[in-house]
Amino acid sequence: MQPILVTFAAVPDGPWRIADVKAVTGDGLARAPALAITEGCAIQDPPASSWVLRGITSNVRYTTRSELDALSAAQEGLGRPQATRAALIPIRKSPAWWALAQEERRAIMEEQSRHIKIGMEYLPAVARRLHHCRDLLEPFDFITWFEYAPDQANAFEELVGRLRETEEWRYVEREIDVRLVRRG
Ligand code: HEM
Repeated sequence: MQPILVTFAAVPDGPWRIADVKAVTGDGLARAPALAITEGCAIQDPPASSWVLRGITSNVRYTTRSELDALSAAQEGLGRPQATRAALIPIRKSPAWWALAQEERRAIMEEQSRHIKIGMEYLPAVARRLHHCRDLLEPFDFITWFEYAPDQANAFEELVGRLRETEEWRYVEREIDVRLVRRG
C-alpha cells in the first residue's frame, strides 16, 4: 500500500466536533471547535489559534506474519456509519526508546507489554490507523486515530487504560487524548 500523507487540522467548523482535549503526559494542545482531516496533500495552515499535525501511513515495523494475518482477519476499516466517535491520540516517545535496537523495541512492545494482543481484544469494535511523523520533524512521533460506536466508548476507555499501564508507555513522554464526535 502506498503511504498516505494525512493532515489533522483544528478548525472553526468541520466534520468532527472536538468534544474533549486532555493532556495525558506533557504539554497539551489548544482547545478548538472541530477537526478536519485531509488526505494526500498538505492544506494551508488555518488561523493562528489552531494547530495542524501531519503524519504518514507506513509499512509495519514490529508486527509478525501471524499477527498481521490475525489483524487483517479481525479489523474493519475507517468510515463505518455507526462509528460516530473518534479518538486522536498524538504520542511522542523518549530518546531512550529511540536509542533501542529494533528487536528490543519489539520485545518491550509485545513480549512485555502485549500491545497487539490487548489491542486485538477490541477488534473489530475499534477501527484504527497509525500515522508516523518522527521523520517529518513534527512535534510527535505518531498520530493514532481510532473510530468506534458510542456504545463502545467504555470499551475504548478500558483499552487506553490498559495500554497506559504497560512497560511500553514508560517511554511515552508526551501524549494528548483528543475525543471527537462526527457531525450528522
Ligand atoms: C484498537 C486496538 C489496537 C490494535 C489492534 C493496535 C495494534 C497495533 C499494532 C499492530 C502496532 C504495530 C505496528 C507496526 O508493526 O509497526 C501498533 C503500534 C502503535 N499503536 Fe496500537 N493498537 C491498538 C490500540 C492502540 C491505542 C489505543 C493506542 C494509543 C493510546 C495505540 C498506539 C500505538 C502507537 C503509538 C504505535 C506505534 C508504536 C511504535 O512504533 O513505537 N494503539 N498498534
